[in-house]
Amino acid sequence: MKNFSALLLTLVMVLSLAACGSKTEPAADTKEPAAEAGFTTVEAGKLHMSTSADFPPYEMIADDGSFEGIDVEVAQAIADKLGLELVVDDMDFDAALLAAQNGQSDIVMAGVTVNEERLAVMDFSDSYATGVQVVIVKEDSPIQSVDDLANAEMIGCQKATTGYIYCSDTVENGGYGEDHVTAYDTGATAVMALVNGQVDAVVIDNEPAKAFVAANPGLKILDTEFAVEDYAIGLKKGNTQLLDAINGAMAELKADGTFQAIVDKYITAE
Ligand code: ARG
Repeated sequence: MKNFSALLLTLVMVLSLAACGSKTEPAADTKEPAAEAGFTTVEAGKLHMSTSADFPPYEMIADDGSFEGIDVEVAQAIADKLGLELVVDDMDFDAALLAAQNGQSDIVMAGVTVNEERLAVMDFSDSYATGVQVVIVKEDSPIQSVDDLANAEMIGCQKATTGYIYCSDTVENGGYGEDHVTAYDTGATAVMALVNGQVDAVVIDNEPAKAFVAANPGLKILDTEFAVEDYAIGLKKGNTQLLDAINGAMAELKADGTFQAIVDKYITAE
């Protein structure tokens, strides 16, 4: 027992020493550019981006199995500027948010909308895009406007998305109630459910909506918009040095036209 407490004491001392050490050398485990900027990353020399590669044209899997999309290319450009190697960690959308929140990834880039709930648990970069929640229905649907959504027996959304959060809210709060919303793992499976008649409408962000409607004949997007939102990069709360570095890199990419060139590659102006 005595030995055990002695061991415990030693352990505590070693641990606190280690803690002191890491305080004086915050960037000890990262390569040069990172060390200069004073930020650390989950893995030395790498920028881990958690995402949910089911959201064209922001993130998706190319035919050759690689990741592509606006978020992927912008993250790559940011990583290049910071002297880091980009690593894309693909997972479900809710897990991608959590990974950044818990510091398992450095950033979440997944067309993430900034909202109150998320601001309470993670930090966000400056916004880099606008997202619009829209409604997809079958071409011959009786649902012709957002107001008609109240008559939908069942609405499909991707789980943990803002679309799901709005729709599943109580009627008093402007939602349709949990009983009228089904959460799917991906937007694509929600759209499949619409095609198969399991849901009457899908609420999802406008750009993936366009891609899914283009891929599935017989669907259309309602003219009326459901909600307008800002996309930003999410980081673990308090990781201000990395946040500043990312905002700085992003500002440069915007100023020199790189950012817009990436967007233009994937989204044709209307
Ligand atoms: N903008 C919505 C949100 O933040 C949906 C994002 C879904 N992203 C994805 N990669 N599946 O909740």
